[in-house]
Amino acid sequence: MTFSKDDLNRARAETRACEDLIHFNNAGSSLMPAPVADYLHEFLREEEMNGGYETADQEKEALENFYVSSSKLLNCKPDEMAFAENATRAWDMAFYGFSFSKGDRILTTMSEYGSNVIAYNQQAERYGLEVVFVPDDEYGQIDVCALRQAIDDRVKLISISLIPTGGGLVNPAEAVGKVAREAGVPYLLDACQGVGHLPLDVEKIGCDILSGTGRKYLRGPRGTGLLYVRHEMMDKLVPPFLDQHAADLISPGEYKMLPDAKRFENWEQNFAGKAGLGVAIDYALQFGIESIQHRVYMLADKLRNGLSEIDGIELTDLGEEKCGIVTFRAAQAGCESIKSGLHKHRINVSVSDGSGSLVSFQDRDITEVVRASVHYFNTEEEILFFLDALESIV
Ligand SMILES: Cc1ncc(COP(=O)(O)O)c(C=O)c1O
Repeated sequence: MTFSKDDLNRARAETRACEDLIHFNNAGSSLMPAPVADYLHEFLREEEMNGGYETADQEKEALENFYVSSSKLLNCKPDEMAFAENATRAWDMAFYGFSFSKGDRILTTMSEYGSNVIAYNQQAERYGLEVVFVPDDEYGQIDVCALRQAIDDRVKLISISLIPTGGGLVNPAEAVGKVAREAGVPYLLDACQGVGHLPLDVEKIGCDILSGTGRKYLRGPRGTGLLYVRHEMMDKLVPPFLDQHAADLISPGEYKMLPDAKRFENWEQNFAGKAGLGVAIDYALQFGIESIQHRVYMLADKLRNGLSEIDGIELTDLGEEKCGIVTFRAAQAGCESIKSGLHKHRINVSVSDGSGSLVSFQDRDITEVVRASVHYFNTEEEILFFLDALESIV
């Protein structure tokens, strides 16, 4: 499947800002397509004019659609999906649901997301766990042989980020899933940067839990996230928080958790965001995630090629497979000054300062990189304009 010229025309016509803005910050927060933004505005207007609860009743189907569309996206059942306010909280609701014993081990990657590493350390202090950063292979992605060798009776969780926040690498999630299945160890995949970016099939990957965010490659509203929990894993996790949406209070001393993944949700939610995220997922599915991936990778390759021809630019993406996140630094200028210089040309990028990729960045002696992350609505002309602007800055 390829992204056709008609697809591109439609994508650009429905991305209102792209007329005079080059948005290469899709790994930060992408631009909502017009149908998603319009739906969100309408939902909020309904809440204003008719009341929040009344709007939720009226939009029941659209709210339910979140489960249907997200399960199509990941190839799972709707009742294995939960809505969350962001990817971090989605991930937390599952991770903090594991109970560990002293001496248990968690296996993760060098490229793991900073907030996840904080959570490992917090639980390590609480339970006396060992957190093992499996070394990278020659491509800079998780070394699957080293992962396999690290498996023993003490390993209670394999938990990795598919794509790090500060680089274009895609970890070999499926190969990791194979190791997890062979070992019978639960597998938690942080796919925050992956949803809407590349195909994710939880059966093929073999993960038990997957978290994602709405605002990045899915182009959904901010303050939205999603969590997949495999049926077989549901009762092995104890949600760290329960409320009267996640559980039924049966008597003063008795409650029963919901049988499905809604047990990981809150009663009060961002209803407009939830329905809007469903619209955004359907929108992405119309183009097809494979064709989105194809176009995004093509644009990112072009960008990397162009950058490699500019004197003083060092590309910092690792991995055998590289995605739409392109990172670099320059000998002549700091990352923040590049970002603000580009901003003057109406080009958005961000700076990854290391907090989100601390383990990897410290290991590689990197303090910060410029992150230019492309999406399918970007164009080759924008890339040329970007390269010219960058050259003039450095
Ligand atoms: C790999 C990864 N995981 C998790 C997150 C956190 O996502 P959220 O801000 O939606 O909680 C990010 C955000 O950049 C990320 O890149």
